[in-house]
Amino acid sequence: MSIKTDADRKGLEAAGTVVRLTLDALAAAVAPGVSTAELDTVAAGIFAAHGARSAPRLVYGFPGTVLISVNDEVVHGVPGPRRIRRGDVVKLDVTVERDGYMADAARTVVVDGGSAEAQRLADCAARAFEAALDVATAGHKVREIGRAVERCVRAEGFTVIRGLTGHGIGRTIHEPPAVPNHFDPWQQDVLTEGLVLTIEPIICAGGEAVMQDDDGWTVRTRDGSLAAHHEHTMVITRGRPEILTAA
Ligand code: CO
Repeated sequence: MSIKTDADRKGLEAAGTVVRLTLDALAAAVAPGVSTAELDTVAAGIFAAHGARSAPRLVYGFPGTVLISVNDEVVHGVPGPRRIRRGDVVKLDVTVERDGYMADAARTVVVDGGSAEAQRLADCAARAFEAALDVATAGHKVREIGRAVERCVRAEGFTVIRGLTGHGIGRTIHEPPAVPNHFDPWQQDVLTEGLVLTIEPIICAGGEAVMQDDDGWTVRTRDGSLAAHHEHTMVITRGRPEILTAA
């Protein structure tokens, strides 16, 4: 969506705040021994306290509150009995609906004991996100975001998973435009002032092929390599984007 009114701005900011609070609580709760279902319960409690609902459940019937993907799981992991272990690479992905507005963010936590490569991968996703902010300005083409992300990820020797992209957001989870993490010469969409979208580098340490589990949700790397994800929801302006899911 594009922000048109004060109510739009307030609604999105409120949804963004719940996303941030939930991610902070989840990141603090991730530890060896905790199950992903227990993490999901933490998120559900925060949503309930703030009058928020799980957007993936609402829009797609996702069987959980938040998406938690571990190690070679890339995105859309379903919370369950799996217990977090030392060194795990945990992707926390939170999308909130509150009063008809939606916001979405994700981060990667490397549990104590993780490899140097795992930490470098998680840092790379965050750094690629930051690089994209420099070009996410009204008047630029959307594809400049992908160009910046891809350049950063390649320079570190990692791989962009091209099938998974950022997206417009606001009234539902996935709105136009798609925001690829690679340079797509055919994409002609132009960033406009007030446009609300996510930027979310989704990367891995091996090949870019992914597959879906039999649960119908979890996407994992085909070669078993580690994956990382970093995402925020933001408003495009004539200067730096205004991030709605960060403090
Ligand atoms: Co997203």
